[in-house]
Amino acid sequence: MIPWIQFFFNLAGVYIMFVDQEVPDVVLSVNRLDGLETIFKRKDYSKCALIIDEAVHRSHGEELKRKLHQLKLPLLELVVKGGETAKTMNTASELWSRMSKTGIDAKSVVLSVGGGSTSDLAGFVASTFLRGIDTIYVPTTLLAMCDASHGGKTAVNLPEGKNLVGTLHFPKCVFISLHFLETLPDREFTSGLAEVIKHGVIRDKLLFCSLEQNMERILSRDSAILMPIIQQSYTIKRDILAEEEQGKGSRRLLNFGHTFAHALETATNYALRHGEAVGIGMCLAADLSNKLRIASSSFVDRLKRLLLKASLPIKCPVVDVEQMLSLMQQDKKATFDSINLILAKDIGSPIYMPNVSRDALTWVLKPT
Ligand SMILES: NC(=O)c1ccc[n+]([C@@H]2O[C@H](COP(=O)([O-])OP(=O)(O)OC[C@H]3O[C@@H](n4cnc5c(N)ncnc54)[C@H](O)[C@@H]3O)[C@@H](O)[C@H]2O)c1
Ligand SMILES: [Zn+2]
Repeated sequence: MIPWIQFFFNLAGVYIMFVDQEVPDVVLSVNRLDGLETIFKRKDYSKCALIIDEAVHRSHGEELKRKLHQLKLPLLELVVKGGETAKTMNTASELWSRMSKTGIDAKSVVLSVGGGSTSDLAGFVASTFLRGIDTIYVPTTLLAMCDASHGGKTAVNLPEGKNLVGTLHFPKCVFISLHFLETLPDREFTSGLAEVIKHGVIRDKLLFCSLEQNMERILSRDSAILMPIIQQSYTIKRDILAEEEQGKGSRRLLNFGHTFAHALETATNYALRHGEAVGIGMCLAADLSNKLRIASSSFVDRLKRLLLKASLPIKCPVVDVEQMLSLMQQDKKATFDSINLILAKDIGSPIYMPNVSRDALTWVLKPT
């Protein structure tokens, strides 16, 4: 069903479910938390460990708990810091201990309520606790609605680098309600737009054009335009994952801009939001595509114009090039002694580029 039609069904209070074996169901609600309780009724859970971002807890915690109490499930509340600081083995270890002490068992469910940092952490904790218990995600940032909640990747950071420890553990369901976006700070909102733009570049020219045409309405958080864009964005990710299941090796396309981004996040000690780093990483990948004569300069300009329109940074901060190269080498997509990247020929036309030379990378990372 095309996103607009789905959206109008939603306005009428109908929930759209995607039932798929490989990837989780997505439940969309435009009316606050309506429908959240139905997800829990699909399975006979014994307890619920609510892992919730502290900022979300402040603004939405009471409403959420009122809803969850209707389920009459014993509830363990675990409030975690937002952002990268919580994505650590220490926090994971504290959560495992508290879950263990309060009798969270194999039939319990972990409910993650927060952005991508919270779901990465909560997913990691759930996937390793008692050899893995179910998760349900309630994303509260644009980035998590469009991207991080879909795909099953969980992670914590190490001092040596971002996302270096993690698992693949799909949530049973992702519940998306736009009302969480009402309290999301502007910088976090625009950070999420970077992943939507990425989905446009790697797969969907129409989505990219729609972002170009509607950026003002998107930035004003007009739900009539946001809902189809969120749906289109995660659908692209889900399609790519489904192709991966068929052995097409598509998953790596999602990495466009990310090898640069993860290294930048670590090198700047997470001063950049993930989406901001992805935006800069996409610019670097586009510059490199142009330098290697894969893409025209008009593609590079068009991508940068859209990122600017979305209020995202496009200029790489001054970084130690050697440190960046070594961090990129550590990235999970790197193989022995070589850095492999996703570059792009044009909007909607990504290309896998193995063994990118150090000279080319140094050229693109050097301040101009
Ligand atoms: N697993 C994946 O496939 C995947 C994909 C993309 C990104 N990620 C990860 O996601 C993380 C970034 O996630 P993010 O951008 O969602 O940010 P986040 O989870 O780090 O949250 C950003 C900030 O927004 C606050 N916040 C969250 N929701 C709010 C709300 N509704 N109202 C007010 N404040 C709110 C948080 O407290 C935090 O300070 C990165 O660690 C990235 O690596 C994972
Ligand atoms: Zn990302």
